[in-house]
Parts: sequence; structure tokens; C-alpha cells
Amino acid sequence: MAMFDVDTVRKDFPFIDNGRIYLDSSASSLTPEPVLKKMLEYYHGFRANVGRGVYTATRRATDEFESARKRIASLINAKPEEMIFVRNTSEALNLVAFGIGLKPGDRVIATVQEHHSNYIVWLRAKEKIGVDMRVINSDPEGNLDLCQLDRELERGARIVAVTHVSNVLGTKNPVEEIAKMAHERGALVVLDGAQSVPHMKVDVKRMGCDFLAFSGHKMCGPTGAGALFIRADLQDDVEPLCIGGGSIDDVGIGYYKLKKGPSRYEAGTPAIAEVIGMGEAAAYLQRIGMESISEYEERLTKSLLEGIRGINGVELHGPMDPKKKIGIASFNLGFMNPHDVALALDRSANVMVRSGHHCALPLMRDVLKCEQGSVRASVYFYNTEEEIETFINALTALTASSR
Ligand code: ALA
Repeated sequence: MAMFDVDTVRKDFPFIDNGRIYLDSSASSLTPEPVLKKMLEYYHGFRANVGRGVYTATRRATDEFESARKRIASLINAKPEEMIFVRNTSEALNLVAFGIGLKPGDRVIATVQEHHSNYIVWLRAKEKIGVDMRVINSDPEGNLDLCQLDRELERGARIVAVTHVSNVLGTKNPVEEIAKMAHERGALVVLDGAQSVPHMKVDVKRMGCDFLAFSGHKMCGPTGAGALFIRADLQDDVEPLCIGGGSIDDVGIGYYKLKKGPSRYEAGTPAIAEVIGMGEAAAYLQRIGMESISEYEERLTKSLLEGIRGINGVELHGPMDPKKKIGIASFNLGFMNPHDVALALDRSANVMVRSGHHCALPLMRDVLKCEQGSVRASVYFYNTEEEIETFINALTALTASSR
């Protein structure tokens, strides 16, 4: 695709060609036709297991599976052998938290912005192992307290776990700076990339992270496949979450030896079609270009924020500068319950938004003071200015009728 053209890309998403306005891509994105076609190609043409046989179909399946690994690695500038396939971001973060060999008294630093997936795994490590978990504060705009991080790091830490982009506020966190601070004090950096990888150019080498978790279903892939980047030289120190067929080098009556590399973590038959689909999604995004996607989304975000801000009685959370965030707008409408707002938008204008606590209760309650959560509209490159306008008009009408 030479130049980004929204009308062209929309043809790949039949779900929205009939007036549906999908503003919930941060929860799960839509899946374009080339990705579905690729998965069907697997089922029709080479439906066999991977890494386990010698006949033509199984070799083709294995080749396609491994080329998905290469494509996904290239999306984040990693080496293929650093990409481990998992089900989703949550599974990836569980793998790190329980594979890294935390010991009683080890210090883990997380932030109050984390999605539950990058929060409760560390709380569980505190409960089960006795790690000392520290939580860095954030202001309502999404600025993390880096002075507090510095103080905590000064006292020593094994892990700094941070989200690249807040799934509630959309704020892009200064992860390069955080990684530098952490590494200077000998801590490893675990990044939650669920909201960043689909929307912007992500480079694990430039960011300097040690682990990066993300999901296929938020980046135009199918559900059921996700990926975890583990820096190559750390892999010997990280235990798999699950072992079994496909992950061993040798087994004797009284011993087993695990393989090196990604297969060590991928026991059992993987989600073959889904991984191949996720690889195709990475290729699809790269054909459009991550820079083009970010630029286009920034324009949509500007309209989204300006539109919401212009409505009386709406409280908008997070940064107002579209450059500081991805296309997420979280807001509350007077005293109306966020779920009622989402239901009304669906009924009146066919607009789909998420409502509730967005799996980020510490941020929602302790920072934003929103006991009932918020409404969240999130855009992707297949949304249009016209859709934003329809959404803003529906929200304006709802505000007027709720007075
Ligand atoms: N993590 C997803 C969200 O933020 C489900 O909506």
C-alpha cells in the first residue's frame, strides 16, 4: 500500500461496512480479510501439526508457523528466536512472573497504571513467594512519578513492570527512560505492549526492554495467539510455565532435558492457525506502515478529544495532547453509569464503546476516583472522521437528554 487510504482498508473489514461504528479496538481489534484468508488457507491446504513430522503438509505448516515468528519479530525489531508464542498478553506476563525465579524479599516495582494482567501476577508473587512489591504513582494525566521510581530503584529491585501505553488514559509512558533507570540499578524491565504494538512503531532494542508482552487480537490478528519477547541471553534464566511435547531435547526414564529457544516455552500443539494469522496481521500492519497508522490515528484522536471536550457535562480523562497518547478517550458523563452510556450509544447510533473499570481498578479508583469506571472510546486505522462525528453527535444528544 503506497499511501494510506482509509476507504481502501475499510474494504478489508466487512464488520463495519453496514453502519456499525466500532470504537472498541483497545479491547479487541477487528480482523481483516487477508488474515482470515491466510487462516483458511491453512485449514484448506496444509492442516497438519507443526514441528513433528516429515510429510509435505506438516513441513509447510511448520514453515508458515516459523515465518509468522519472523514477521512478528520484525514488527518489534527482535530476533525470531526471541519470540515466544503464548495465548495472549496475560499468559505472557504470567510466564515472566513465575519463570524468572523470584525469591522471598526480591523487590518488584510496578505502577498504578497497570492493567490487572501486569499487576495481579506480581501481587500473587508477593502472596506466594514473599516478594516485596512497590507501586509507582501516576497523576490523572498519566504522568508516572519517576522520582518515586528513582527512590525505589535506589533501594534495589529485580523487576520493573510497566505498561508501554495505559489502556485507560492512552498515555505513552517514557519507557526508554524507565529502562535506562532500571538497568543502571540492575533491574530487568517487563513491558506490557498490548496497547502499543498495534498502534505505533515499537523497537525492543531502542526501548531497551528485557521482556515485551502483546496480543494478536488487538493488532488485527485472531483471538488465541499472543507473543512474548524474551531477550536472547535471558532465556536460560526463565523457566517455562508449562512443559510437555515439543519442549524437550531428551527424556529418559528418570530425567528430562528442555530444548533451548522458543520451543522450550511452547509445549503441546500450539494455536497453529491463529499464530499464522497473527503473522499475517503483522505483515498487514507493516504493509500499511506503522508510521502511517500512528499519523492517521493521531488526527482521529485530535478530533475525538476536541469533540468530547466540547460537550457540556462530560469529564474527559488523560492527556489532551494527541501526541502524548494513542487513540483512547476515557470519559464520564455526569452521574450516568458508564454502562448505561455505552448501552445508549449502541442503541441510538450503533456505536460500540467499552464501559467499566477496563481491568485497571487501582488506576480507576485510586487515581481517577471513578468508582463506577468510565466509558472508553478507542480508535484504530479503519475508523473515520465521519464515524467520530456521528459518535460525538450521539454523545451530545445523550448528554442533553440526561439533564
Ligand atoms: N485489555 C483490554 C482492554 O483494555 C481487554 O479493554
